[in-house]
Amino acid sequence: MGESIRREDALVLAHYYVPDAVQAAADFVGDSFALARKAKESDKPVIVFCGVSFMGESAKILCPEKKVVLPVEDAHCAMADMAADADILRLKERIPDLAVVTYVNSSARLKALSDVIVTSSNAVKVVSRMPQKNIYFIPDKNLGAYVASQLPEKTFYLGWGCCPIHNATTLEEVRRAKEAHPGALFLAHPECPAAVCREAAYIGSTAGIIAFAEQSRARSFLVGTEAGTLYELRRRCPGKEFFVTRESFVCADMKKITPAALEAVFAGGGTEVSVPEEIAQKARIALERMLELGA
Ligand code: 13P
Ligand code: SF4
Repeated sequence: MGESIRREDALVLAHYYVPDAVQAAADFVGDSFALARKAKESDKPVIVFCGVSFMGESAKILCPEKKVVLPVEDAHCAMADMAADADILRLKERIPDLAVVTYVNSSARLKALSDVIVTSSNAVKVVSRMPQKNIYFIPDKNLGAYVASQLPEKTFYLGWGCCPIHNATTLEEVRRAKEAHPGALFLAHPECPAAVCREAAYIGSTAGIIAFAEQSRARSFLVGTEAGTLYELRRRCPGKEFFVTRESFVCADMKKITPAALEAVFAGGGTEVSVPEEIAQKARIALERMLELGA
């Protein structure tokens, strides 16, 4: 057990995929980009990050002077290590005009080898502002393919990683769900495969999907991302209907962050995040470049 934390000393951040009750208890709920920005801007000495471990790591890298606590030690993003250092170094050597662009859903070690970090809400903007023509996009091959489709002027080399939960979405599943909910607009997260994204009326981050649904005149939506997003969609859009493409669209690691685990943090539970300084220093440059280019 660590030291207890006073609630007023902490900023509690939560991602849209954590259980509803945890979102309800948080000070701020957002997508990965908004959460990283909130952490950086906070004047509280402690950040309690209700999300998977790379999110807490990014907050710690951006705010080294703050105590960052994860309610659960073993909540990890399955994609975070899906790239090899050797591949990065080999490609960097082969192609001099290369930017290594790393999705924020990655380990601190991968971030430290990168030129810039992106999230699903700013990837197109950030990559378009990089001076290099050649882009090595890791680890998510699906987000990478989506960004490449938006920036034909650049040459992309894609990694092999993906989110097993989003990547499992099939065209058949989406078409079946569309048949079950006729007239519903399909909104997809770019971690879904390209064939699925092509069926979508909108492609964007969790926050982008929520903002699109809020502004849309449509009344019914089919959501191609993790089911936790339904909580904020229904809260923000009373009177509109939301469905996920499949019942099992669930990130089990995000669901480990229970209300009891969050409460226990204030009594000294949870895990304090630490990132070795030589990794943090390099990763910070890439993360700060994202904040600058993605603004
Ligand atoms: P967002 O940045 O869109 O919230 O996505 C995070 C994530 O983990 C998607 O699977
Ligand atoms: Fe990672 Fe996928 Fe879970 Fe998002 S939904 S945190 S990409 S495993």
